[in-house]
This record gives sequence, structure tokens and C-alpha cells, in this order.
Amino acid sequence: MKIFVVGGGSGFGCTLVRAALAAGHQVAYSTSSATDAFDGQTDLAVTGCDLTQSGQVDVLSDAIRGFAPDRLVLCMIKTHYRPMAEQTATSIDEEVTFNVAVPITLANAYAACRPDGSMTFMLSHICFLYNPGFALYKAGKDALDSFAKSLQFEYPRLKVLRVYPGAMRTGFVTNTGYAGAKVFPAAEPALWAARVLSRDSGVMMAVRDIPFLIMTRLLPFRLQKILFQIIFGLLRRK
Ligand SMILES: NC(=O)c1ccc[n+]([C@@H]2O[C@H](COP(=O)([O-])OP(=O)(O)OC[C@H]3O[C@@H](n4cnc5c(N)ncnc54)[C@H](OP(=O)(O)O)[C@@H]3O)[C@@H](O)[C@H]2O)c1
Repeated sequence: MKIFVVGGGSGFGCTLVRAALAAGHQVAYSTSSATDAFDGQTDLAVTGCDLTQSGQVDVLSDAIRGFAPDRLVLCMIKTHYRPMAEQTATSIDEEVTFNVAVPITLANAYAACRPDGSMTFMLSHICFLYNPGFALYKAGKDALDSFAKSLQFEYPRLKVLRVYPGAMRTGFVTNTGYAGAKVFPAAEPALWAARVLSRDSGVMMAVRDIPFLIMTRLLPFRLQKILFQIIFGLLRRK
């Protein structure tokens, strides 16, 4: 199978590229790094692809169309653990653009060239949680989640996998500056990589997040708010 990993130079994406190569897939990836992390082992490495630069989104869309993978996996993320009171118009715009507009643009380029293909959205268990300081991160993931569902009505043959991982041992915590991460035990990214490679459509989440899924889907918001305030009060004491 031909797989294209967006954000394959570091974090979960890098683990996924490694796992896909080991499984014998044809792999292409993009990275904001100037160097090829896999030293020519992949079928295509789009290096220096900094997706904060609008021109680079077009370059990457062309690369995805050129490779025409059976599967596209979107791993990129750029976020900061920061209360809304400290956000500015610029920081909000940058985060929403990178985490929502850019993946939607890439997904759109892929769906148009491979309407029979498969697309994986790396979402998060934040879709089933409220974590003060991650309001923008959650808003972005919820938006992508809705987009991933809606897209399947426009491209009925497209397979879509929505992955909601919990904490993983990557650079994410350091990159976001989230000091409270120790309260969510982190999993090895290789475990999630193996799961992601095993299926190309549907929904994937950690069993331990099911109670949160039920809470946010079934309880009235007023009750959710009280429960999450208790949970985060307890977590902050740890
Ligand atoms: N780790 C967790 O605890 C956790 C929990 C829930 C969900 N997730 C989700 O899982 C996915 C992977 O996260 P991760 O743990 O790998 O995060 P990470 O370690 O912070 O990695 C950041 C990712 O974004 C890409 N990236 C960063 N800056 C970029 C830029 N300027 N241009 C293009 N790409 C850029 C990186 O690729 P390059 O370095 O190759 O550019 C890398 O794939 C994300 O969608 C994240 O929201 C992670």
C-alpha cells in the first residue's frame, strides 16, 4: 500500500513512517525539518515543508497529488497550553489556521485526486474532554472531527479513520508546555502506530476514554461542567 504521512519527521508521524516501512508499505512523508529523517529509505521525502507558510501548503498538496497514495495520514499539530485570557488575535488566527484550515486544505486536495482512497485524521481524546488551557486545541480537533464526518457525505467512496489517542510519549507535551500531562499516563506511539496501520476506516480510541465519551455525549452540559470542574480540581492537587 502507498501511504503518505504529513508530519513524518518527528513525533507520532515519525513512528508511523517507521512502522509502515517495517510492514513493507511504500511510504512518502513531509516534514518541516530541512533533513530527511529516514535517509532516503522512503519513496518520497518532502523536506523543509513548513506548513505555517501558505506557499508550502500548495507545494505539499501537489506532492500528495503526485504520489496519489492509497492512504493519507494527517499527524501535524501546533498548539500551546494557554488560557484564553492570554490569547491574542494573532495567536488564535495562527493556531486555527494551522490546525484546521491547513489539514482541511490537504484533505480536500487528497479527496479530489483519490475519492476512493483512505484518509486518517489524528484527533485526540480532547474531543471527549474539557481541559482549561486547551480550548483552542479542542476547538480545532472538534472542527476536524466534524469535517472528517461531513467529507464522507461528499465523497461516499472515501474511507475515513478518526483516531482519538490519549497521551502518547512524543514531543507533544514539551511542544505545548502542558505541565499537567503526568496525570494522563502516556502510551508508546508505536502501539497507536500499529493500531492505525491495522485499519483504514472507522473510529479508534482508548478504552479508558470511554467514560469521558459517554459523559460528553449523554449528560446535560451543566452536569458535565460540574463533573469536569471536580475532575480538574482533583488533578491539580496531584
Ligand atoms: N502526543 C500526545 O499526547 C497526543 C495526544 C492526543 C492526540 N495527539 C495527536 O496526535 C498527532 C501527533 O501528535 P504528536 O504527539 O506527534 O505531536 P508532536 O510530537 O508535537 O509532533 C508535532 C507534529 O506536527 C508536525 N509539525 C510541527 N510543526 C510543523 C510545521 N511548522 N509544519 C509542518 N508540520 C509541523 C511535526 O512534523 P515534522 O517535525 O516532521 O514537521 C509532527 O508531526 C497530533 O494530531 C496530536 O494532536 C497527540
